[in-house]
Amino acid sequence: MSSAAERASQRAIIVRRARLGDATAIHALASNEPSAASWPITAYQQFVAAAGEGPQLRALFVACPATPGARVGSIVGFLAASLVPGGPCEIENIAVLAAWRRSGVATRLLQSVSLWCRACAANHPAELWLEVRSGNAAALAFYQRMGFAVTGRRAAYYGDGEDALMLAARLRP
Ligand SMILES: CC(C)(COP(=O)(O)OP(=O)(O)OC[C@H]1O[C@@H](n2cnc3c(N)ncnc32)[C@H](O)[C@@H]1OP(=O)(O)O)[C@@H](O)C(=O)NCCC(=O)NCCS
Repeated sequence: MSSAAERASQRAIIVRRARLGDATAIHALASNEPSAASWPITAYQQFVAAAGEGPQLRALFVACPATPGARVGSIVGFLAASLVPGGPCEIENIAVLAAWRRSGVATRLLQSVSLWCRACAANHPAELWLEVRSGNAAALAFYQRMGFAVTGRRAAYYGDGEDALMLAARLRP
């Protein structure tokens, strides 16, 4: 069986930084995915518009089909991350369109975040952090495959009473 990365190259995606005009498509993707964090459209716009403002740096990446005939502006996955120089990089939200899962899209998005962290120069973070619902088996399998380990649990963290698991991965130098 081919790896997720091999399948991603077969399905020809590109990963790039989001533009303001992508916010509607990202919001629509996230809104159809109950496991993704539920953000208003303004949160995605803010990620793009204020990426380098204040002490917190933000990056919003999107994955787009690169196949001939793909609809212009279509987005099949996104990842939002932030970091305060000197601290960890936090993965704040991620989702891949159901029809594009297990194709390496999230792997490519995470690779882009790692490169972004390194580009944040001398203060690049040593770790990636995130929180995930304890019952989100697909996300847990993905993160564990990407080298994350569980570092803690927050009881009844979500509004419906589900626990959050805290995960961390070291960024390779
Ligand atoms: C979690 C999620 C982002 C993974 O995206 P993806 O593009 O399908 O992930 P990849 O194709 O890059 O997967 C890479 C590897 O992770 C593991 N993996 C990913 N999804 C998996 C699943 N459902 N079951 C088991 N392993 C899985 C596999 O090892 C996979 O490699 P393989 O396909 O060669 O076996 C996607 O399932 C999703 O959007 N879920 C809904 C939103 C969500 O839960 N967000 C997380 C909030 S914290």
